[in-house]
Amino acid sequence: MNKKVFALAALLIVLAGCSDQKGPKDLSKLPLDVEAGKQVAQNSCAICHGMDGRGAAENIPNLAAQIEIYLLKAVQSYDHGKRVDSSGNVMKVAEGLSPNQLRNAIGYYASLPPVANQLAKTEAKYSYYERGKALSQPCAACHGKDGNTTVGGVPRLAGQHPQYTIKAVKSYRDGVRTMPAMHAKLAGLSQADIENIAIYYALNEPRSSAGKADHTHEGAQFISACVKCHGPSGYGEDTSVPNLAGQNVQYLNKVIKSYRDSVRDHKVMHQSLAGLKDSEINQIAIFFSTEQPARTSFAPPETVSSLVQKCDICHSLGSSNPEMLTPKLNGQNRAYLINAMKTYRDGDRGNSAMHTMSSAMNFDATIEGLADHYSSQEAK
Ligand code: HEC
Ligand code: HEC
Ligand code: HEC
Ligand code: HEC
Repeated sequence: MNKKVFALAALLIVLAGCSDQKGPKDLSKLPLDVEAGKQVAQNSCAICHGMDGRGAAENIPNLAAQIEIYLLKAVQSYDHGKRVDSSGNVMKVAEGLSPNQLRNAIGYYASLPPVANQLAKTEAKYSYYERGKALSQPCAACHGKDGNTTVGGVPRLAGQHPQYTIKAVKSYRDGVRTMPAMHAKLAGLSQADIENIAIYYALNEPRSSAGKADHTHEGAQFISACVKCHGPSGYGEDTSVPNLAGQNVQYLNKVIKSYRDSVRDHKVMHQSLAGLKDSEINQIAIFFSTEQPARTSFAPPETVSSLVQKCDICHSLGSSNPEMLTPKLNGQNRAYLINAMKTYRDGDRGNSAMHTMSSAMNFDATIEGLADHYSSQEAK
């Protein structure tokens, strides 16, 4: 949203003041005057929602042809901060209007024909794996095309728990861990991008990496302190604990020392390693690097196309059933959809119907995929 819009919104709020009128709870019971509503829209809403009901900027929803009584309820839900809007309190403008003015403005917007969709309908289905593959191109020179490293000292990412990879990538991106040559490649990645990359690597078959050492079990005597978390063969089910089996031996050597010396900060890891000699660490590194790597049991999140079928049970045409007022999503503004889904997921916008779906949205990548889908549909 640009500065002009904000300034105008602020002005409108000041002009409107805080209305003391306590209107009827149900705006839909009021008579409708569409012409009067057009005037209200012109004066108070059009700067953001347009006269054609199209959101004028990122994150402003289209209102044209939306289910009328959904909009009536939605506009009141901002009243006194009950629904927090992600663009700042811009919808406060509605608090200054009389119930009749609001009713008419909404009636005007709902009566408009749907806005033509400017986004070309993207036929390509959203795939976590394919996105991750594309996004991981800049990583391939060091980490290998599929995450199986061919460069000594570089960790293998194939078959790693995605939750761990996500955390690790962010710690480099945000400068908690440092690796200058990698940093530039991570700078612009969003949460959804990082998730897709991590999912891509997780689903690839791990192979023993370059720098393979001859098999030796000398290290076995030192690893009793490690198996609780890392498993007897260097892999386990705990998604926050990285798999070590078949990992690059130089990398293991380096990183175990960096935990021991508190260069890389992790309390438990530091305690487990305190006092170990370099030669003993080398034995541990050889032990884990020569174990057979196993793929994580991670199951990727439900596909967007499968989810959409569930969403459309309620959303395909929307619903004005007072028991479940459901908005249409087709052709809606992408950034707005993303914010709306995150607010349900994070509990900022309560709704029991949507709450049951929000577990499907644990990954930002899923939310992005759903928003891509709906924003590229023709509005009806
Ligand atoms: C300064 C910009 C601005 C103005 C002026 C404005 N809106 Fe909004 N409106 C927004 C934004 C941004 C949102 C989305 C907020 C969010 O993320 O929940 C929104 C959301 C809405 C929604 C909820 C839509 C949905 O799908 O849930 C309704 C209804 C609405 N506005 C109606 C109006 C009406 C009627 C007016 C005029 C009285 C108006 N708005 C004036 C910016 C504005
Ligand atoms: C110039 C070579 C290079 C490039 C390019 C590169 N990396 Fe790395 N990466 C490394 C090295 C070396 C390390 C080990 C750093 C250390 O010791 O902390 C590493 C570590 C990692 C780790 C930590 C793994 C673990 O087991 O803790 C992750 C995750 C990672 N890189 C992801 C990426 C991603 C994603 C990209 C692309 C966007 C990328 N890297 C690009 C060289 C590179
Ligand atoms: C209490 C659980 C626990 C114990 C015990 C433990 N680890 Fe870890 N280990 C972790 C966790 C959690 C991480 C990830 C830390 C992070 O995010 O930096 C980790 C990270 C590592 C890494 C980095 C892997 C990578 O890909 O960057 C290595 C290597 C490692 N541990 C080896 C060991 C060894 C060797 C021992 C035994 C001497 C051991 N760990 C004991 C939990 C444990
Ligand atoms: C059981 C019916 C139902 C299902 C299934 C459902 N929704 Fe909803 N959805 C609703 C209702 C009811 C609302 C209005 C809630 C409110 O007033 O805040 C809503 C609101 C929304 C909104 C806010 C739209 C706006 O204009 O503000 C989005 C986005 C959304 N749903 C996305 C989804 C997605 C994506 C799925 C599938 C993963 C889904 N919904 C599945 C009933 C459902």
